[in-house]
Amino acid sequence: MAASLNDPGYDFTNDWFDQNIAVWDALLPRFAPKRILEIGSYEGRSACYLIETFGKGQALEIHCVDTWEGGVEHGDIVMSDVEKRFDKNVQFALTKVGNPDVVVKKHKKLSHLALAELITVERQGAFDVLYVDGSHQAHDVLSDAVMGFHLVRAGGLMIFDDYIWSMEEMGSQDLLNMPKSAIDAFVNVFTRKAIVVRNAPVYQLYVTKTAL
Ligand SMILES: C[S@@+](CC[C@H](N)C(=O)[O-])C[C@H]1O[C@@H](n2cnc3c(N)ncnc32)[C@H](O)[C@@H]1O
Repeated sequence: MAASLNDPGYDFTNDWFDQNIAVWDALLPRFAPKRILEIGSYEGRSACYLIETFGKGQALEIHCVDTWEGGVEHGDIVMSDVEKRFDKNVQFALTKVGNPDVVVKKHKKLSHLALAELITVERQGAFDVLYVDGSHQAHDVLSDAVMGFHLVRAGGLMIFDDYIWSMEEMGSQDLLNMPKSAIDAFVNVFTRKAIVVRNAPVYQLYVTKTAL
């Protein structure tokens, strides 16, 4: 059954994520996600989608990495309230699914520190899906991509949000203020180990890891 993020039990203030749902519904089941790593969780809308969609009838482990301090694009949003909504929304999704084998692990820290802790001999290649939706600064996206790569299994999926997003208006973009330059650098350098999924829309970029 499809996830219903408009359930009145949730407390979301935006629906940025929903434009991806049709693609994720079609693509993600091919990767049989049982362990998912999400960088950038905000109020938990994408995490709740994952809990509702893949948390029924199987064990599921989702790691949510976020500082809950916001990024340059978040202006004066009160991030302590965002974090409270994350906790509440994830709890609601877990209750809705009612599966004790669904586990959500919260890593409240900068992504490079969280990833540095996760990268161990046991955990390398442990994740079926990595969702990169944290900082949109190119240097952060590049380290999320390179460090995250080591945590994804061969044959797993890496999803980069906001591939074509930029802080500035079209024509005057700062390459360092947008994910695309970092994602392009990653995809170019890792070309023998990761390939872009064909026939998928490019607001997000979908990349399959093909080798360790
Ligand atoms: C666009 S929001 C994530 C949206 C979420 N995936 C969804 O679909 O609802 C980006 C999040 O990344 C977090 N963030 C920004 N820079 C970060 C960093 N360097 N490390 C960890 N989290 C970061 C922000 O606090 C923010 O909550």
